[in-house]
Amino acid sequence: MSPESPAAPAPSTIGPELTAADPVRMSVIGLGRLGRLHAENVAGRVPGARLVRVVDAVEDVARAQGERLGVPWSTDPADALGDDVEAVVIVAPTPLHPELIAQAAAAGKAIMCEKPIASDLTAGRRAADAAEAAGVLLQIGFHRRFDPAWAHARERVRVGELGEVQLFRSQLWDQRAPAASFLADSGGLYLDVTVHDLDCARWMVGEVEEVTAHGAVLVDQEIAAVGDLEIGVVTLKFASGALGIIDNGRSAVYGYQASGEVLGTQGAVRIGDDHRIHDLQWRTPEGARTDWQGDFQTRFAPAYVAELEAFARAVRGGPATGATGADALAAQRLAAACERSRAERRTVVVAELDDDGA
Ligand SMILES: NC(=O)c1ccc[n+]([C@@H]2O[C@H](COP(=O)([O-])OP(=O)(O)OC[C@H]3O[C@@H](n4cnc5c(N)ncnc54)[C@H](O)[C@@H]3O)[C@@H](O)[C@H]2O)c1
Repeated sequence: MSPESPAAPAPSTIGPELTAADPVRMSVIGLGRLGRLHAENVAGRVPGARLVRVVDAVEDVARAQGERLGVPWSTDPADALGDDVEAVVIVAPTPLHPELIAQAAAAGKAIMCEKPIASDLTAGRRAADAAEAAGVLLQIGFHRRFDPAWAHARERVRVGELGEVQLFRSQLWDQRAPAASFLADSGGLYLDVTVHDLDCARWMVGEVEEVTAHGAVLVDQEIAAVGDLEIGVVTLKFASGALGIIDNGRSAVYGYQASGEVLGTQGAVRIGDDHRIHDLQWRTPEGARTDWQGDFQTRFAPAYVAELEAFARAVRGGPATGATGADALAAQRLAAACERSRAERRTVVVAELDDDGA
């Protein structure tokens, strides 16, 4: 296949035009590693969106970000749901997502919530149900769906350019493990990290029927101390019969790694192999060297802007092009199946799990 082959338009460009004269008024709850970036994007990089308020439970953080971005700030999430707000971006710690989604839904706000939707399936289902019952938009932050390379590859795989898909590969490694306090609330490696690959697997190839998961802590005992895993490998069997391989880790010392491959009967596509910051290579007698991106904020900078733009268009009546509540629950269920597979050292048929993941 040729890289010039036509593909569907980028999801963030579908839907009504957004205008500066009538911006979607958004607030952001949670101003940590990612919330800060989302707030900056809403404030200055998403055409047709306006940041009207920021909230963080830590007063110094809320004040500093509010002052930096020139908007009112608060430590109370209820202040993010006032009459001047149409849509809320939830980037607080994962265990808080369901309650914040329910409150935003009750206030009639459109919701973009970071992944995963909840720490467990029961709470996630209640949150998705609350949004549906209130009739509000709920988009979950699976940003890879808005990365130009992943989205382009996905469209072409889905229209059959690779023939019949045989194998899906995906890997996601942070350069450095997050703080132990984050890990303790994260839901664990499968729910916090693998969930991106699991969402991608469904989005690109289709439903997954079986998973087999391994996990280990070899080095960083702080990770073991909070009951988490340092590395993980998951194999998938799709309903189509295709197979999948995912590998994850909390610290790839050379940099952030998020890449994938789909192989089919007509060819293959590799995605996100090149994580260079600049298109340059230093060549010296000792060898050649390229810079490598160290975190998700830089690697996926355009994707985070595009997902908020798509959200804004959906708020204004465009199609919902991001991951839905149902997508989030499906990925969460797969993560729960991974957890069970590792604990019980066996392949798990996803249909074994009931709606609560039990
Ligand atoms: N899509 C992605 O690529 C991606 C990347 C990183 C994190 N995330 C998700 O985003 C969420 C936040 O992750 P992070 O890395 O930014 O975490 P973080 O710990 O850096 O930041 C969380 C922030 O929320 C604030 N907070 C805590 N309780 C709050 C409350 N009740 N109300 C308002 N603010 C509160 C904290 O003070 C902190 O500033 C998590 O759910 C995580 O899974 C997604």
